[in-house]
Amino acid sequence: MNFLFVGDIVGKKGREVIHDFLPTLIKENNIDFVIANGENAAHGKGITYKIYNEILKYGVDCVTMGNHTYSKNEINEFLPVMHKLVIPANHIDKKEGESCRIFNIKNTRIAVCNILGTAFMGDYVKDPYEAFDRMLPSLSDCDIVFVDFHGEATAEKRIFAEYYADKIDILVGTHTHVQTADEQILHDKVAFISDAGMCGAYDSVIGRDTNESIKAVVHKEKTRYIVSENPPIFCGVIISYDNGVKDIKRIQIRPKKRSN
Ligand SMILES: [Fe+2]
Ligand SMILES: [Fe+2]
Repeated sequence: MNFLFVGDIVGKKGREVIHDFLPTLIKENNIDFVIANGENAAHGKGITYKIYNEILKYGVDCVTMGNHTYSKNEINEFLPVMHKLVIPANHIDKKEGESCRIFNIKNTRIAVCNILGTAFMGDYVKDPYEAFDRMLPSLSDCDIVFVDFHGEATAEKRIFAEYYADKIDILVGTHTHVQTADEQILHDKVAFISDAGMCGAYDSVIGRDTNESIKAVVHKEKTRYIVSENPPIFCGVIISYDNGVKDIKRIQIRPKKRSN
């Protein structure tokens, strides 16, 4: 069984690159199940019901989220009907929605879980270990446990994967939007990478317009959050599983044309 994980989809350009490359990637790599992080899919912050459905239409089977889960006001209204959305278990605002969903693919029960890291995240994040411990009973009869650990710090992601190495099969990190080169199979059983990277404008500051980022950070100007319209990069990982994880491989498709 082959999984494709798609890194944080950032705005329109991120959705565009999914539309352009996902069908071919699925076909060429015999992908059985696609998980994508959609926390930035709607103009860089959050997701709407319409955009969630758009991403599913492109071939994504499950959408995970992150610290921007509640950035769009409509989300609470639609969470009860977003049956393929997985939201962080340890966000202080969580009431509706699921943080672990079980999918049955080729008679294999796959659990997809979403957890927030604590480093540089703010006080809305509750303890990730307590949150995941509470999930463990519901995972006991699953064949494959996949965790999207959404956090800033590489070491925090690695520690989580090491601590739960007997309980999980795949841990893919998200949130930094920068793909790391540390993919590895831990202890011969857990596919791991600190960050899958993003699908969004290649010439940008992690998807955000570069000039606007400089105005906001260097010059302390009050700006709106502007998503870059430059040509996008596609980042993700492919994980192969056959009675245990066999391989984890990074995917990066950079744009041929650079800035607009
Ligand atoms: Fe993100
Ligand atoms: Fe994030």
